Amino acid sequence: MVVLAAGKGTRMKSALAKVLHRVAGVPMIDHVLDTAAALGPSSTTIVVGHQADEVRRVLASRVGLSFVVQEPQLGTAHALLSTEPALAAATGTLVLLSGDVPLLTTGTLSRLVERHHAAGAAATVLTAVVDRPTGYGRIVRDGGGAITRIVEEKDAISAERGIREINAGIYAFDLSGLYAAVRSIAAENAQQEYYLPDLVAIYRKRGFGVETVTVEHADEIQGINSRVELADVSRVIRHNTLRNLMASGVTIEDPQTTYIDRHVTIGVDTVIHPGVSLQGRTRIGTGCEIHSGVRIVNSTLSDRVTILDHCLIVDSVVRDGGYVGPSAHLRPGSDVGADAKVGNFVELKKTVLGPGSKASHLTYLGDAVIGANVNIGAGTIVCNYDGTRKHQTTIEDGAFIGSDSQLIAPITVGRDAYVGTGTTVREDVPPGALAVSAGKQRNIEDWTAKRRKI
Ligand code: UD1
Ligand code: CA
Repeated sequence: MVVLAAGKGTRMKSALAKVLHRVAGVPMIDHVLDTAAALGPSSTTIVVGHQADEVRRVLASRVGLSFVVQEPQLGTAHALLSTEPALAAATGTLVLLSGDVPLLTTGTLSRLVERHHAAGAAATVLTAVVDRPTGYGRIVRDGGGAITRIVEEKDAISAERGIREINAGIYAFDLSGLYAAVRSIAAENAQQEYYLPDLVAIYRKRGFGVETVTVEHADEIQGINSRVELADVSRVIRHNTLRNLMASGVTIEDPQTTYIDRHVTIGVDTVIHPGVSLQGRTRIGTGCEIHSGVRIVNSTLSDRVTILDHCLIVDSVVRDGGYVGPSAHLRPGSDVGADAKVGNFVELKKTVLGPGSKASHLTYLGDAVIGANVNIGAGTIVCNYDGTRKHQTTIEDGAFIGSDSQLIAPITVGRDAYVGTGTTVREDVPPGALAVSAGKQRNIEDWTAKRRKI
């Protein structure tokens, strides 16, 4: 298997390599490699060039890939030639994919390979019949219907431009003699590039078998060359993801405004309200309710969790029956325990909030370990940062923190202890104790009237 991914993607007008642009939340090339992997190829070689190091870095966690660098990038035939040293000893079938065609399915790819083998062809080309062929290479057939050549849009005469059958840029080749034939391709065309599709005419002239397989759903082979196509293809992928989730028992109130990445899992009877984004490796259990305007990234929600409107949850966990929001922010490393509550305008960072505990209003908890059934009053702030280092706060089971308190870390509030309203806690509070730090209140009589006289 060879995947072409060296092109700059000029029409994207981007500093980023085209194949790294995200399609429905995932780099374009990842979609292609997932499809390729499902076929179980004996090797996968990726042709990189533009931003080669960056492409390698993004794909570093994938196993079994090898890379070849095509520099400079002189066209798709030249790209295939750059794999010759890597595949010199290989025999049998080479399947060639394009890094910018992410909707291709494994089923179609299998059909391509099956037809190629059944026909004993030298090359088999995947084609599609589309309403708007603009930008694609056109499939030219003879009177008997056999493919004779492929002509690129820029080199086509107007009659050829009217052809609605296009080249998907995906092929199966017999490796024997392939590289020698590709080397004979010339760059005599409008773009002065070495076009791989020219191999069709070369093979046909030599009397070699060239087959075609036409996809059933033309959507599948849509290539991405511009930001508009990026959005179009993303929409198709998201639509499919949402349909699969709905079929599996998830309610999605408004698919038009719901954005769910394809690796997200969601249990039955969970309800997703409009305007929700679920990203990365997020996992959501059964019977949850996610209200409008929520974004959840790489996080886990167990069962029966409620997330109220406009929360941001990143790299965090909310356990069974947890209740978060509205407008709460769970930063990385937060763990909201079973039946615990995080309320309005509350921010957690690297904080464990134990089962049944509550932080209902206007609170910051960072680097804290909070036990079970703790009540954190409105406006409580953990002072975890001294300007140089972060320190930990520990609040044990059953403690009660009065409103508008500050806990200066490192600090421990013991089991069942109380912190009075408005306390600045500078020293540990023993279990069962009450901590107060505010002085006695003084009222100055008639103060307002005197002030106004001045
Ligand atoms: C190509 C086909 C066209 C087909 C279309 C389908 C050619 C000449 N044309 O056109 O017939 O209809 O795909 O989507 O092949 N690449 C390299 N090195 C290069 C040039 C390209 O690796 O030197 C890679 C690109 O990164 C991309 C793929 O090859 O992944 C296709 O290149 P692109 O320039 O997008 O070709 P198209 O003009 O779309
Ligand atoms: Ca393309």
